[in-house]
This record gives sequence, C-alpha cells and structure tokens, in this order.
Amino acid sequence: MVGYSHGAGVCSVGIRDPLLITDEQLLQKANEIRERAYAPYSGFKVGAALLCADGTVFTGINIENAAFGPSICAERTAFFKAISEGYRDFAKIAVTCDKEYCSPCGVCRQVMSEHAPDLEILMGNLQGTFKSVSIRDLLPQGFTLLENS
Ligand code: THU
Repeated sequence: MVGYSHGAGVCSVGIRDPLLITDEQLLQKANEIRERAYAPYSGFKVGAALLCADGTVFTGINIENAAFGPSICAERTAFFKAISEGYRDFAKIAVTCDKEYCSPCGVCRQVMSEHAPDLEILMGNLQGTFKSVSIRDLLPQGFTLLENS
C-alpha cells in the first residue's frame, strides 16, 4: 500500500503504546536522523527509525568507510543499537533516502528477517510519501538455522 497510515492515537493503553506514533512521525524521525549520515564516498544519505513493540524508537544512519567493506547501512545501525540495548521485539522500521522509495538492501533484509520476522517496513523518501511492505514479502524463504521461523 502507498501512503497509508494507521492513524494517531487509535488505542491508548499506555504512554509507550506504539500506536501513539504515526507512520508519518516515524518517517520524520528517519528523515531527521538522515542528516547525520556519514556518506562521503557515495554521497547517498539514508536514515532509519526502528519502532520497538513497547514504543521505543531507535534511529540509524549509514556510516561509510574508506575501505568500503566496513560500511554499514542505516537499517542495521538502528537494529544493532536496539539489540545491543536489550530490545528484542520490533514492530516496524521507517527508511528514508533521496529516491522515490528507499528499499532495503539484501544484507539488511537478512538481518531484519532474523530479528523481526513479522516486521513492517515503511519505504520512504524526502517528500514524506512511502510504501508499506512486510519483511516476508521482501525476503521470502530467507535463510535461517532456527526452527519454527
Ligand atoms: N544504504 C543503506 O543505508 N541502506 C540500504 O538499504 C541501501 C544502501 C547505504 C549504504 C551506502 O552507504 C549508501 O547507501 C550507498 O549504497
């Protein structure tokens, strides 16, 4: 779906209810943090905002390196920040860049699939429009060593 929002404040069971942040607000957080991207080699800045099940948001940027290999994408920066802080349940991630829709790379899809098999991905841009897709659609039959996933 394109440009669809679940709406604000649909449910209010607690102050950290993830529904209290709209898709537009999550995309805005991704766009704000995107300014901090370290991308002197590609010149292509990406921002991400990962919404945890309890409503906590972790942001991420792409961080490049002169040796190229050590570079990391915005989505994985957000995931690794969250996981290293003890978070395990993720609802959705917004990803934005200066492109029509920011579609995550294959490596990030594999990481998302491992840590958030039911993740919703908001693929956004600088204009604020976006497409909502699931990680199962982006990475069908992804590699796993775990049973029942
Ligand atoms: N990039 C991301 O941050 N996320 C993606 O899903 C695709 C690519 C970054 C990596 C690199 O720093 C720049 O965009 C150009 O490929």
